[in-house]
Amino acid sequence: MYICICNALKDKELAAASSNARTVADVFRRCGSRPQCGKCLPDVAQIIEDVRAMEDDQLPLAAE
Ligand code: FES
Repeated sequence: MYICICNALKDKELAAASSNARTVADVFRRCGSRPQCGKCLPDVAQIIEDVRAMEDDQLPLAAE
């Protein structure tokens, strides 16, 4: 599904670029683009949060 219409970026591409990303700008940079209208920025931020939560769930527990 397209998330960023201005740059024709789909959710899967944005999720792949979100691994260990700190900011929305990091994700756009990794996709070789930059935000234009800005309407997708909240959705991209949510994708970063979702990917971060998924990666945190996959970390082994230090106490184990
Ligand atoms: S929809 Fe992403 S910058 Fe416009």
